[in-house]
Amino acid sequence: MDTRRNFIKKSAIVSAALCLPVSLTRESLAAYPDLKTHDPKKALILWYSQTGQTRRYSRLIGCILKGKNLTIDESEIQEFDKKLLPDYDLIIIGTPVFYYDTPSNVSNWLETIPSIKGTPVAAFVSFGGPEGNQHNASCHILKILANNGGVPVGRDAFRNIPSYPTPNWNSDNQISGQHLPNAATFDQVRRFTADMLERISRNETISIGYEIALREGLRALPLVWLNKKAINKHTVDAQKCIRCGTCVRKCPTKAINPFKQIVDRDRCLACFGCLNNCPADAVLMEYRGQRLYGFPAYLKRNRITILEPPEFSTCS
Ligand SMILES: Cc1cc2nc3c(=O)[nH]c(=O)nc-3n(C[C@H](O)[C@H](O)[C@H](O)COP(=O)(O)O)c2cc1C
Ligand code: SF4
Ligand code: SF4
Repeated sequence: MDTRRNFIKKSAIVSAALCLPVSLTRESLAAYPDLKTHDPKKALILWYSQTGQTRRYSRLIGCILKGKNLTIDESEIQEFDKKLLPDYDLIIIGTPVFYYDTPSNVSNWLETIPSIKGTPVAAFVSFGGPEGNQHNASCHILKILANNGGVPVGRDAFRNIPSYPTPNWNSDNQISGQHLPNAATFDQVRRFTADMLERISRNETISIGYEIALREGLRALPLVWLNKKAINKHTVDAQKCIRCGTCVRKCPTKAINPFKQIVDRDRCLACFGCLNNCPADAVLMEYRGQRLYGFPAYLKRNRITILEPPEFSTCS
């Protein structure tokens, strides 16, 4: 029988194996096409953002690039006309990490883009981590872009307070007081942007190396399905609903109909976009019998104000 000490030792080894980015092997794509420009003039920043973190980093990148006299177009990814992608000299994609990967609505959208041969491309993710598999999630985006002719010139992951609701918002990685992003996070975004431009000017690319970490195996689990099983209630409180339609706009699969108080559980991705964005606390979700509340309520209850980068006061 295991002694208590052995048990603790074994548990520590298993936890470390699941959490550490153990790179067993790295895979790189073959040579890329030539960059179509070494002096980009027109950049596109596309983002998917449910609770505003990815959007904040996208805006900051846009401000920095505008400061360098680039023309910038920015859009929520699913609202952008993908036929226009080849018009740009630089394409940057930002998304959160959901369930250890790129959200499926983002990867599905990218799978059908036209050829962007020779266009410099960069990807970043925002994540709650620390064990978020963020490296592979951002490489996943670059790989899809590279399959369509994009040339990877930047990749990064920016950590912040997670937007994943648990009944008390108090799992290991949701410790109140870790109010990321902070000034260092924004410095990381500035470095990411500067390095990307530097690489383009020097005709350099980055390789897409997947980390074969044990936690990568978690992606093989039916995480969304398991979560939906645990969510025993998901509907709309007709008394509280102010019929603003925000949940419909934020739902990537249009699974929610607040006017009929219906959620199509088959189409639902368990992304919590409805809960995390309802301004009237009208989305009713229960996780194993416990009521969930959204990101704005979490911030309010913990008196957290998210830091904004100074660039926002001067950049439109
Ligand atoms: C449904 C869901 C799943 C998540 N899964 C992960 C994850 O696997 N790893 C991680 O680091 N963060 C995870 N998070 C946290 C988000 O990636 C993080 O809060 C992100 O910055 C949110 O970006 P946004 O504000 O732009 O939506 C998850 C959040 C949600 C809502
Ligand atoms: S209904 Fe499901 S898929 Fe739609 S926003 Fe809510 S949690 Fe996400
Ligand atoms: S976001 Fe909330 S208040 Fe607005 S329509 Fe949806 S459920 Fe109703």
